[in-house]
Amino acid sequence: VLGGSGQQGGGIARRLARAGRRVIIGSRDPARAAQTIESWRASAPIESAGYTDAAAAADVVVLAVPFSSADGVLEACRPHFRRGALLLDVTVPLTFESGTAALVPVAEGSASEHVKARAGADVRVAATFKTVPAQLLNDIDRPLDCDEFVCGDSAESRTEAAALIAAVAGLRAVDVGPLQRARSIEHLTLLAIGINRRHKVHDARFRIVGL
Ligand SMILES: NC(=O)c1ccc[n+]([C@@H]2O[C@H](COP(=O)([O-])OP(=O)(O)OC[C@H]3O[C@@H](n4cnc5c(N)ncnc54)[C@H](OP(=O)(O)O)[C@@H]3O)[C@@H](O)[C@H]2O)c1
Repeated sequence: VLGGSGQQGGGIARRLARAGRRVIIGSRDPARAAQTIESWRASAPIESAGYTDAAAAADVVVLAVPFSSADGVLEACRPHFRRGALLLDVTVPLTFESGTAALVPVAEGSASEHVKARAGADVRVAATFKTVPAQLLNDIDRPLDCDEFVCGDSAESRTEAAALIAAVAGLRAVDVGPLQRARSIEHLTLLAIGINRRHKVHDARFRIVGL
């Protein structure tokens, strides 16, 4: 989990470790990340490493850094990704200028398409974990009760990403199709932030009925 010492990545790392997956947190400062892991008192072990070492060690890489940092992280990791690795893009191109949340325009259409264009030809990309709130993920003993959208560059990428989501207790994966659907998902993250602010909550989330 690149950026797994942070809010969203930390919640994902802890939930996946609890689901029995081997988790490595990629960090600019692995020693500091090790201290963060220690503070979690996680029931399952989680390792830390530099970004490139973490990328090289994983078949599934979660990109959970601020969107503004994604280009630098991808440039550094590109030569180190395993051939055929699945990159799960969690980034949302948010800005909070003058206290208002908004999406930064992205030339490719979405953060995930931007990431796909920079991940390297041998890396598959799916977008997910973009709408489940960090607050809820990190309340580690609280059961999850929502859906998480998955889109990706192939049916195989989506199936693999959905299996990982399904491994997290209480989270249901909803396959929404090709990677371009990340444009809609990223707008839903913005919508959730707006709902949180308006209704003074921290964990607005989505569940699709009728499936
Ligand atoms: N928070 C949410 O509820 C939420 C929900 C959905 C999606 N997301 C998306 O998930 C991604 C991570 O969000 P977050 O809230 O977890 O962010 P965050 O806590 O601010 O940052 C996550 C990690 O990114 C790493 N990082 C790399 N370059 C950085 C830089 N230049 N400045 C700061 N941190 C840097 C840091 O890890 P090291 O210092 O260990 O390298 C940091 O702990 C974002 O793209 C966000 O849009 C967040």
